[in-house]
Amino acid sequence: MANRKKSSIIITDEITHSARPFVKWAGGKTQLLNALLEKIPHSMNTYYEPFVGGGAVFFSLISNPEFKVKKAVLNDFNCELIETYRIVRDELDTLIEYLSPIATQYLAGNTEQRKEFFYEIRAGIPSSDIERAARLLFLNKTCFNGLYRVNQKGEFNVPHGRYKNPKILDVELLTLASHALQDIELICGDFEDSYKKAKNGDFVYFDPPFFPLSSTSNFTSYTKGSFGREEHLRLKWSIDQLRDKGVSIMLSNSPHEWIVGLYEGSKYTINRTPARRSINSKGEQRGVIDELIVI
Ligand SMILES: C[S@@+](CC[C@H](N)C(=O)[O-])C[C@H]1O[C@@H](n2cnc3c(N)ncnc32)[C@H](O)[C@@H]1O
Repeated sequence: MANRKKSSIIITDEITHSARPFVKWAGGKTQLLNALLEKIPHSMNTYYEPFVGGGAVFFSLISNPEFKVKKAVLNDFNCELIETYRIVRDELDTLIEYLSPIATQYLAGNTEQRKEFFYEIRAGIPSSDIERAARLLFLNKTCFNGLYRVNQKGEFNVPHGRYKNPKILDVELLTLASHALQDIELICGDFEDSYKKAKNGDFVYFDPPFFPLSSTSNFTSYTKGSFGREEHLRLKWSIDQLRDKGVSIMLSNSPHEWIVGLYEGSKYTINRTPARRSINSKGEQRGVIDELIVI
């Protein structure tokens, strides 16, 4: 492939130009991309994304020739998700081989058969990494609203969705993602451990689970742990340390006054951008809510 450098990820061949998330993820940033990208420096050494989720910002940045990024490190607490990224990066052919008959069988069924097949796969315990990645992709494309949510035991608990013709296996999308992920470091763990080596010239984009605007409003069940006030404080202290080291940062969060209070002051610039929320437990709170962008 033209212009593809193995040692750095300045990839300018066309295939990476439209890489985009291969999973739908709660809190996904696709609709806010422009507002976010315009605040990111065009040149950096290492790009870190400690709460990567579906990776909308990463895929967009890495596919955009205006951004020169030498290295990237992606992290999430959800190990199944990160393992799926790894499989897409390193073992795409095997994944496609495994997922293809699953997609065919599901799509050939009537409503009842599809439902039964969905719950069978949901209840199953995968016996290999490939099987686990295929299961995550299958469930993500066929579950209700296409979201990933787990219960307190860490079990995926979203019911069957009603998509007529879900794209369970999108070979083109997965291939674009796989190309974009070559040479990218993938880590599964707590956010703080993923950017310990960050230094001046690097950039970290934080998109933590949103601080809820009310006690019932926000979706935070990405993993079996929770991300509450303590975690948001720990994140703020960690961001202060990065700032003191000269590392540039950007943070997305809800416009809750407690979060605004944490970052207000001369050290940080706070922007508000309107964003449409679709995953929200209270119907009346769906709609346009500002998103806070702290830099
Ligand atoms: C708002 S979502 C990120 C969405 C992402 N920007 C996108 O475009 O899809 C927050 C992510 O943080 C992850 N997470 C939760 N607690 C974490 C922790 N302690 N450390 C790292 N990641 C965590 C969740 O698994 C979830 O994927």
